[in-house]
Amino acid sequence: MKYINKSLSIEKIKVQNIAKKFGTPIYCYSHKKLKENISNFKKNFKSFSPLICFAIKSNTNVNLIKEIRKFGLGADVVSIGELMVALKAGIDPKKIVFSGVGKTSNEIGYAIDKNILLINAESKSEINEIERIAKSKKKIINIGIRLNPNTDAKTLKQISTGRKENKFGVDEKNFFFLLKYSKLSKHINLKCLSVHIGSQILDYKPYEKMLKVVDRIIKKSNYKFEFIDLGGGMGISYGKNDKKLNYQKYNIAIKKFLKNHKSKIIFEPGRSIVGNIGSLVSKVIYIKENNKKNFIILDAAMNDFMRPALYGANHKMLPAIKTNQTSKKVYEFVGPICESTDKFTTLKKFQKLKEKDLVVMCDVGAYGMSLSSNYNVRPKPIEILIKGSKINVIKKRQKLEDLI
Ligand code: LLP
Repeated sequence: MKYINKSLSIEKIKVQNIAKKFGTPIYCYSHKKLKENISNFKKNFKSFSPLICFAIKSNTNVNLIKEIRKFGLGADVVSIGELMVALKAGIDPKKIVFSGVGKTSNEIGYAIDKNILLINAESKSEINEIERIAKSKKKIINIGIRLNPNTDAKTLKQISTGRKENKFGVDEKNFFFLLKYSKLSKHINLKCLSVHIGSQILDYKPYEKMLKVVDRIIKKSNYKFEFIDLGGGMGISYGKNDKKLNYQKYNIAIKKFLKNHKSKIIFEPGRSIVGNIGSLVSKVIYIKENNKKNFIILDAAMNDFMRPALYGANHKMLPAIKTNQTSKKVYEFVGPICESTDKFTTLKKFQKLKEKDLVVMCDVGAYGMSLSSNYNVRPKPIEILIKGSKINVIKKRQKLEDLI
């Protein structure tokens, strides 16, 4: 995204033209950025060519996932719906892993019928259920066991998953118990140890720690896992002050780990693949200047983009047209929803705005549209994919008739 003659452009398309053609709010994705992210991700770990399973939860747009599939990626899914989306996008079932603490019998049965690569189980009861269904279908099912390595990912507590107080995975004692149990089962083939310690991780050290725990546990288990699924979680920079994850250090730690374990590595990245490919364009409906505070009221709201309301996340805001006139006031950028958490950011010295101006929220490609809702009976935005000077509508704007 850059300014071309003062007009913010995504690849070769001006944001103002997009808004004129499709209305606002609108999610726009850049194909070029997607390609760059995937190629960087692969480059970072090329010495051991991992299986990269895109975390569908981060962006569930089937047409976008079709593009991701074309780069050879598989999928990490956490529900029957996500599994259906991945299959619809043409992802090879042999590149799909199924995670999650509460898979229902229906979901397990469907995954078994589709012959996916792995079901990463998270409890004894789930393994029993997989076994029961596999037996009834006269099949042997490849599973992983998700270990909770009790590692602090040093990220927001709401998106931390690898500490002992989190609901995810099983502790060391249970892991050994389930390993023993699975080895004896006629309908289960234990192939994988999986971990995922959290999301938006910017420090490589928690990954190093996690690998040490996994290394120790595998040595103790004396079991050969065909796959080690290290999950996702690689963070991106949302602001100037965010540090960058040191992929080189993470790569070195994995290579060291692989010297002792000849397993295929699986990753489940979401945010690092699609986070910075997406922008949310919205229009200023009103500007309200109160005694205490000034508000820019946008036509996008927390239902369209939840991260600020849910996690206090701060996303960069840019004007669609640059004027070089700076406002001296402090403005809070809010949506029209009847909740005080319906606010995106507070900015000082932003460009002077008028009603009907367009603004762009950056880095909303991951957990943007996928976390959106119809709260306040607001139809979900349209999604477009930009490739050079071409625009593809990859999901239409919801209509009020769909909702009422
Ligand atoms: N694998 C598992 C098992 C996961 O639970 C997750 C994310 C991922 C992979 C992908 O993680 P990523 O590479 O995207 O960090 N809504 C929050 C993020 C929640 C992440 C949930 N699990 C946000 O907007 O920050």
